[in-house]
Order: sequence, then structure tokens, then C-alpha cells
Amino acid sequence: MTDELFKPSEVAFIEDPYPALTELRESGPLVWSNEFDLWLVTRHAEVLACQRDRRLGRVMNGHAQPTDLRPVQTIKAISDWAPYYDIERHSLLMLEPPEHTRIRSLVSRAFTPKRIRDLRPTIEMTAEVLGATLDPGGFDLIADFAQPYSIRVIATLLGAPLDSVDQLLTWSHAIVKMYELNPTEPEAVAAIRASEEFSEWVGDLVDQRRREPRDDLIGALCQAETEEGRLTLPEIVSTVILLLNAGHEATVNTMGNGMTAILAHGSWDQIVSGAVSSEVAVEEMLRWDAPLQLFERWVLQDGFELAGQAIPPGSKLAMLFGAANRDPRAFENPDLFEVGRGDRTHITFGAGTHFCLGAPLARLELDIAVNELAGRFPNLNLTADPMRVPAFVIRGYQSVPLTAQN
Ligand code: HEM
Repeated sequence: MTDELFKPSEVAFIEDPYPALTELRESGPLVWSNEFDLWLVTRHAEVLACQRDRRLGRVMNGHAQPTDLRPVQTIKAISDWAPYYDIERHSLLMLEPPEHTRIRSLVSRAFTPKRIRDLRPTIEMTAEVLGATLDPGGFDLIADFAQPYSIRVIATLLGAPLDSVDQLLTWSHAIVKMYELNPTEPEAVAAIRASEEFSEWVGDLVDQRRREPRDDLIGALCQAETEEGRLTLPEIVSTVILLLNAGHEATVNTMGNGMTAILAHGSWDQIVSGAVSSEVAVEEMLRWDAPLQLFERWVLQDGFELAGQAIPPGSKLAMLFGAANRDPRAFENPDLFEVGRGDRTHITFGAGTHFCLGAPLARLELDIAVNELAGRFPNLNLTADPMRVPAFVIRGYQSVPLTAQN
């Protein structure tokens, strides 16, 4: 039954996965997928438990071996994965303690709450400048606003030159395709090339910062030090690429998914009138249609049990965030989009070891963006049905056509 319901490559499933996710979740907290050879974890409590359980990990042996990477396993025709593997090898997302702990604590020294707070005026200015370019007669929320906004914010934070943002987007889009469940060979070839070029570009930037220190995030990553030492060059390169990739895609998709939900449910007036603050609205945007739908874990140790089911080491689990965020055991009327709900217990930023490092920045960026749009465009409407990106794991819209005229 599972494989008939869970069809992450099918257009109809991607268009609206929630009825199928509901059926899966209500059939049990843990359902086996023959097709993907893993357990799907469907309910909020169980997804949270998996995120917090140290007997599970994103990789089997502390850090990614080439064979841990899904495309390396599935696309046999490619023999040289080195450039792609080199960036994944040191990515926080692909590490487990103790290496993860060492790198995360170094990155946290550079990526501080104060650095995010200090960025507020720059983020506001970026939103305002882009907002002023939007044609009230018709614009695309994704291409004309969310995409350039988010990439400019993360590039500014890092200290990457702003004239490089188009190139960064191209590299980043190519690499994140590898996180889908079924990447193709041409996509893998593009991702490997992008990894090579991206690494070289970041390496040059790091060289520059080492010669001329500056108070931006790349400069701070070069300086960060604990009693265990500093970050190595490959670690800094991986971290910068991770921050650039993680730092815009999900935020852009939350803007698209969330604003579409707000407008489709007639909730814009509540934000414009101030009845619901943009900060509160952002939480429902994150919950109702999560921009990242699935994360995998390996069982690393003996004795792991979930929902009464013993699962041996070497087995795989896939946590379904969209299913968990609509779990009636965790949220009242979970399928209802309630712009003022303001419930932060959604699973969208994860939890435990890999909890999203950028959550405060993402929340701030989204809050400022919604606020900017509400101040500028009290009448905002969809002009056509937005078009989905044809992918499930990274869930977003290709375009969201809007008009600010009645
Ligand atoms: C709405 C936007 C965002 C969402 C929904 C999101 C979601 C997530 C999730 C679910 C994870 C955990 C993955 C796992 O458990 O396997 C994660 C990790 C991470 N995120 Fe985000 N993220 C967002 C924005 C950002 C931003 C803006 C940044 C940085 C500028 C960022 C940086 C990271 C990093 C570095 C990690 C890895 C942490 C680790 O493994 O220790 N994210 N994110």
C-alpha cells in the first residue's frame, strides 16, 4: 500500500502530497517502503524522537563515505565524484559527533546571534530596494523578489561579492538536485561540475580573507578557534557552500509556499491590518507547507526501537516533515491554514544534533519580507495558479505570479 501512496516523482503527488501523506500517517507512525527500501516516519512525536536520537545518524561512520551519498549509489555510470564528494565530506549535514561537534562549535562562533541581529538594517534595506522594483501591475514573487532577496542576504552575510549572486544561484541549484530521492545522470554531471567551480571560487575568497581579514562571516570562519584548533581550508569551503545552499533555497521556497497559502486562503488582510504580525504569520507559513519535506537517517546502533518496532543497524528511515506538521496529534485542525496560529512546535527546522543553524536568520528574513510586501501592497492577489518545481524533497514553486492591483 505504501508504494501506491508514496510517489515522490509523480506530478499529482508533487502538486498536492498531503492527502497521501495523511493516509500514510493515519495508517501508522512507521510504514515500510519497498520501493525505497526504508521506513517512512509519519507522525510528529516519532519524527521528533528520531531527530533527537543519537543512535541515528545522517551517515554510517561519522562522516560521509562516497557510498553514503545517494547519487553515488544509484548513478553507476559516473566514476569520478571527487569534486562533489569533497564538499559533502566536510559538510555539517554529513557529519556526526565528534567531528560534527567540533565543526559546529567553530561555525557557531562565527555565525552568532549578534551577527544576525546586526544584519537587520541591511536585510530591511535589501527588502525595500527590491520591493521598489516590483511592478504593481504584475510580478513574479519568486524571480523578482524572493530569489534575489534571499541570495543577496546570505551573500552579504558571508561577504561574497554581490555581482556573483547569479553564478552562486546556478551552482547552488545544480548541487541541491542531488538531495532528491532520484537524481538523474545529467543532473549529477552538472552537480559535479558546479561543485568543482564553486569550491575553487570559495577557495579564492578564503585566500583573500586570510591575506586581508574582514569582519564578514567568511572572515570570521577563517578566524574562529577553539581549544581544538581552527577550521581547515576544506572545512571552510564546505561550510561556506553549505551556508550558501541551505541559506537561500528553503527560505525562497517558504516565501513562495507561504505567500501562496496566505493569498489562497484570503488571509492577507489580517497581516496588512496588523491583526496578525508578520512574525506570527511566518510560523504558519513554515508549518503548513514545509519547504523541506524529507530527511533520512541511518540506524547506527543495536537496540533501536520506534513505535514498538525493532529496527536493526544499517536500516534507513525517512522522516516526513509535511506529514508530521499536519499531524492532528500535535496540531488542532492541522489541515487548516490559520495565519494567526503562531505555533512554533512545527518540525520545519528539525531538532537535535542537526537543528537548523540558520533558523533565526530564516525567521528574520521571512518576517522582514512579509512586512515589506504588506506595507507596500495592501491589495495582493494571485493572477494565475503558481507552478510547482517538479520535485518533492525540496518543495517550492517555480513562479508565483502576483498583482497588486484590484
Ligand atoms: C526556511 C528556511 C530554512 C529551513 C526550513 C531550514 C531547514 C533545515 C533543516 C530541517 C535542517 C536539519 C536537517 C536534518 O536534520 O537532517 C537544517 C540544517 C541546516 N541549516 Fe537550515 N533551513 C532554513 C534556512 C537556513 C538558513 C537561512 C541557513 C544559513 C544561513 C541554514 C543553514 C543550515 C545549516 C548550516 C544546517 C546544518 C546544521 C547541522 O547539520 O548541524 N538554514 N535546516
